Amino acid sequence: MAHVSDLISTDIEQYLKAHERKGLLRFITCGSVDDGKSTLIGRLLFESKMLFEDQLSAIEADSKKFGTQGDEIDFALLVDGLAAEREQGITIDVAYRFFSTDRRKFIVADTPGHEQYTRNMVTGASTADAAILMVDARKGILTQTRRHSYLMSLIGIRHIVVAINKMDLVDYSEKVYNQIVEDYRAFAKQVGIGEVTFIPMSAFKGDNITSHSERMPWFHGTTLMGYLETVELDEERLQQGAFRMPVQWVNRPNLDFRGFAGSIASGVVRPGDRIRVQPSGKESTVARIVTHDGDLEQAVAGQSVTLTLADEIDISRGDVISAHAAPAETADQFEATLVWMHEEPLLPGRPYLMKIGTKVVTAQVSEIKYQVNVNTLEHTAAKKLELNAIGVCNLTLDRPIAFDAYEQNQDTGGLILIDRMSNSTVGAGMLHFALRRSQNIHMQHVDVDKEARSAAKAQKPCLLWLTGLSGAGKSTIANLVEKKLHARGQHTYLLDGDNVRHGLNRDLGFTDADRVENIRRVAEVAKLMVDAGLIVLTAFISPFRSERAMARDLVQEGEFIEVFIDTPLSVAEDRDPKGLYKKARRGELKNFTGIDSAYERPENPEVHIDTTEQTPEEAAELIVAVLEERGMLVG
Ligand code: ADX
Repeated sequence: MAHVSDLISTDIEQYLKAHERKGLLRFITCGSVDDGKSTLIGRLLFESKMLFEDQLSAIEADSKKFGTQGDEIDFALLVDGLAAEREQGITIDVAYRFFSTDRRKFIVADTPGHEQYTRNMVTGASTADAAILMVDARKGILTQTRRHSYLMSLIGIRHIVVAINKMDLVDYSEKVYNQIVEDYRAFAKQVGIGEVTFIPMSAFKGDNITSHSERMPWFHGTTLMGYLETVELDEERLQQGAFRMPVQWVNRPNLDFRGFAGSIASGVVRPGDRIRVQPSGKESTVARIVTHDGDLEQAVAGQSVTLTLADEIDISRGDVISAHAAPAETADQFEATLVWMHEEPLLPGRPYLMKIGTKVVTAQVSEIKYQVNVNTLEHTAAKKLELNAIGVCNLTLDRPIAFDAYEQNQDTGGLILIDRMSNSTVGAGMLHFALRRSQNIHMQHVDVDKEARSAAKAQKPCLLWLTGLSGAGKSTIANLVEKKLHARGQHTYLLDGDNVRHGLNRDLGFTDADRVENIRRVAEVAKLMVDAGLIVLTAFISPFRSERAMARDLVQEGEFIEVFIDTPLSVAEDRDPKGLYKKARRGELKNFTGIDSAYERPENPEVHIDTTEQTPEEAAELIVAVLEERGMLVG
């Protein structure tokens, strides 16, 4: 490879040493299709002489075949790696490229510009120090420019370069440049984007990329490469912040050693520093900073180390070790911006796993305050967030975590949401602040507890959760079970779908979002009734696995008994006790389960009733027998 540095041929050892010490800048390029992103990246690789000879000759050949630039080298071909992209002429995935100069190493993420790729852009930008926003000098500020700028500011990229490209096609006009700068400044002010650097350039001709262009003598600012080589790295800034280290794992090879390993998210740490462990709040002093290459006198943001402490305190994976004098906040409810990245929409009330730093907790969106239209930046009301939607939401966690506002620290304030069933990443988010209400509400101790209440009833409380299609027989069977239990002197309560929807849940319909909320409320009520010592029966379609899993998690291990009332759709439709299937088939009833709304069959129910084989009476007897077997009916 023909690298720019002569040291490679003269003193390779020294070159490698210098290379190792060089800082790494991560940046992202964005802009709309055709405004020259790929050409720019190709140009940067070319100028830093990071191209292999064979790559160069391959692009030369390709330029003739696919290129859009006549006989000249089309650098875009180097970057648009995928065949499909070449044919369509657009970039469809995040592509990372590496190059280096004498002063720095660089990783550039090239992301597609279309709105449907918002998630790719957020992924590509999440670790970037800087963003290059490409603007076509002929077109000026477009909707995409605004959308991308908004996303960059949302992700918290501090350094934005507006690269006004294709200046060669507007005769290197200062007037055109000034107009675009003025337009962009006006917009940036409106969305609260701070510092912006403007550079007029031609990626294709190489103007203002590595050296000042003679064709634009009126421009006195920095060249693009000059900017990239000197702009402040996030790592440098983070070292100024308060010390934070999310604990990745507890290293306990023998009884004499107990270390806490992790990557330092911000600040500096030295032996002797006072620290606080969060969220527990326990305090201690750093004893040693251990690494593979021996102990350190200090460690800074970006380094991975193992800390040992002066005191034996309980710390587990996911805890955050913070500077004693400037700890993180702790809370379990937040306002956050969420970017939704999955085809299945985000539904308020549905539990997701949330990963923040090294900690994983369960989170629900308790409210979508508004959705942001990424093109107009308008706020609109929303009941769910679809793929690529961005919303400002309230989040509720199942336990407190340590955090900082995302603006302060992207590691301790940035989160991802994971689907509990499929384990795939479904969203990303940025914490704004803790909701104070969570800090002013504490659990009240009560002396008469669940044990006392259930002992008085001579039974063990439990939650019998009947699920199945409409018309499967849930209510009929639940009613028979309750009658049998009541006859035996047991204390019971039956929550039935149709009945609850006449009262507590009369505001809810049958959209996915409303069904999630229906089940969330019912599960919470059932939990209280179990706490009251009752044997609780529920008869709801409860079509989604996620919400049935949520109900299971609300009560103690062994208390949840999932009963699948399994009736094939054709049988339920034949029975059609309320005439609803007929209505649904005629199109008079929308979102009907089994017709145009999904039913997710239980995978491992505790009890499986096949209503084509068993009568309701037999099913009820079986369920009572299961309760007996499990020792629920003590009396
Ligand atoms: S759930 O899906 O949210 O669990 P739930 O059990 O409360 O539903 O209510 C289902 C009952 O509502 C059905 O038995 C039926 O009588 C009635 N219903 C009315 N519209 C619908 C619909 N679109 N889909 C399913 N059930 C409906």
